[in-house]
Amino acid sequence: MKVEEPKPSWGGPWTERKLNAFSKYVRAYLKIMNRNPHRQTVYFDGFAGSGDRGGTAKGNELLLKLDIKEEEERVYEGAAERVIRLQKPFEFDFYYFIDKEERHLKQLKVRLLSIPEGVEKKDRLVFRSGDCNTELIKLAEAFSRKHLAVLAFLDPFGMQIGWNAIQKLKGTRTDLWVLVPTGVIVNRLLDRKGELKSIKKLESFFGLSEKEIREHFYPPSSQGVLFEGQYAGRPKVPDPIAKIAALYVERLGQVWNHVTNPPLVLENRIGSPLFHFVFASNNANALKIAQDIIKNVWPCLNPVLNGQK
Ligand SMILES: C[S@@+](CC[C@H](N)C(=O)[O-])C[C@H]1O[C@@H](n2cnc3c(N)ncnc32)[C@H](O)[C@@H]1O
Repeated sequence: MKVEEPKPSWGGPWTERKLNAFSKYVRAYLKIMNRNPHRQTVYFDGFAGSGDRGGTAKGNELLLKLDIKEEEERVYEGAAERVIRLQKPFEFDFYYFIDKEERHLKQLKVRLLSIPEGVEKKDRLVFRSGDCNTELIKLAEAFSRKHLAVLAFLDPFGMQIGWNAIQKLKGTRTDLWVLVPTGVIVNRLLDRKGELKSIKKLESFFGLSEKEIREHFYPPSSQGVLFEGQYAGRPKVPDPIAKIAALYVERLGQVWNHVTNPPLVLENRIGSPLFHFVFASNNANALKIAQDIIKNVWPCLNPVLNGQK
């Protein structure tokens, strides 16, 4: 897939909004969870990255040219570091960092073990190189053996998360924050003519068939339908990015009892939505906390996108 525009720089204001919202949630989550000492709390970071912006973006076709200044790079703290820097009582029992690139994980490990809070938690940190989907499935299986409470942070660049893995979390005590590349990728795969050259990717991402995807994004209308049952000529829905987000929220709602609706919208500097950051949980209180965070995290350029107007 070749995607030219926009090129979000990893670490633009949208990254800060995402990490800011997530960090607030982590504190609130641990405050509640640590009241129950019998449960093992686990932080599961499925796309952990290397801990710096340049490293995390390398090899990604979307982000070939990063415009990050050296001084910005030095002050950048990814999610992993922010979570590790939290001190008692805001600590997890275990921290899992997954990345398919071994060198990113090695870099992250060095970075986390270079700070006192990381050294202090050393024996509770697990670094696993591999595919996040495989690790999510293993995580889901671990619930049958252990009394776990998991906070999963899934922060990919693209559409790497398959629905198969997500749905395995049904009925588990997992709270999820997931970054959905609504504007930056999914919308581009749903091309205007409806050719859907990457339909397999879309199917595995949404866990839906081609027919279902077409019905969502190229619904039948009075114009453009050539023959019954044919999709050719059907126009793409208006406002597709919002509809992609709404569909993902709906899909998550089939796995979790509560999903933030609207999610946090992350936009580029000119106000176009790039990603949606969605929260899901089986706990109604957790949803309320996440919703409050989304409302109060400093506003994006276009408040309409956040459902604030
Ligand atoms: C956007 S970065 C993560 C940023 C990080 N969460 C932070 O806050 O700085 C994405 C990372 O996901 C990794 N990755 C890509 N596909 C993956 C997959 N299928 N499973 C696990 N990790 C993957 C990449 O190697 C990259 O390091």
